[in-house]
Amino acid sequence: MFSIPQYLDFDYNDRTGETCRFLLEMLHRKSDFLYLHAIQVANYAIAVAAKLGLSAKEISLICTAALMHDIGLLSVPNSILNKYPYLSVREMAQYKRHCIAGCSMLENMEEFSGVVDLIKDHHERWDGKGYPKRLKGVNIPLGARIIAVADYYDGIVNPCTRKWEKNHEQAVMQLMDGIGTRFDPVVVKAFIAAVVPGKAMPTPRTVLEATGRRIANAAKKMPSESAAKTLAIVDK
Ligand SMILES: [Fe+2]
Repeated sequence: MFSIPQYLDFDYNDRTGETCRFLLEMLHRKSDFLYLHAIQVANYAIAVAAKLGLSAKEISLICTAALMHDIGLLSVPNSILNKYPYLSVREMAQYKRHCIAGCSMLENMEEFSGVVDLIKDHHERWDGKGYPKRLKGVNIPLGARIIAVADYYDGIVNPCTRKWEKNHEQAVMQLMDGIGTRFDPVVVKAFIAAVVPGKAMPTPRTVLEATGRRIANAAKKMPSESAAKTLAIVDK
């Protein structure tokens, strides 16, 4: 069972939704590509998180972080974005700062306290060769490991992104090539099981409802005291 218990205290409220909508609108005005990519990455991340059996709270957090994962690119000039990935060393350094920039934009907002690390770490790699901090393995938050896989996949299959070149099967091969180096093996396995062409992707609402039902059913089998606690956490 995977768990990110520290995120269970996250206060997911209307204010969070308002801020997300505003930032997504900014992203949309900056670039259609970035906007559609954010939506798709969130869709994949939700499906994978649900497949891993994470709680409704955790899935909400990962969904928010996936939508916001590239908002730091708002601070990167179009002249750099438009020629990505063919950048000079200096331009690449500026591009890579988008993880920290996105985190800095939200770090003072308490309602995003469980999300900022996922944004900061979405380009970390399982083998410790990512950025910005070269975190390794399970030191990278699980949500960031999920977003990394979803981000990579969408980056190579989605025609709205600039690296469009692969079909689903080719992209899955690339994900498998990245197991143990770029990606967490467990997350890749869950991604392949959850994202199947022709199969409808779950919406956030259906995933959260299903997760709520699953937890409620599990709680029925528990002694009444711990069941009440479990449901209290879910409803919080
Ligand atoms: Fe990114």
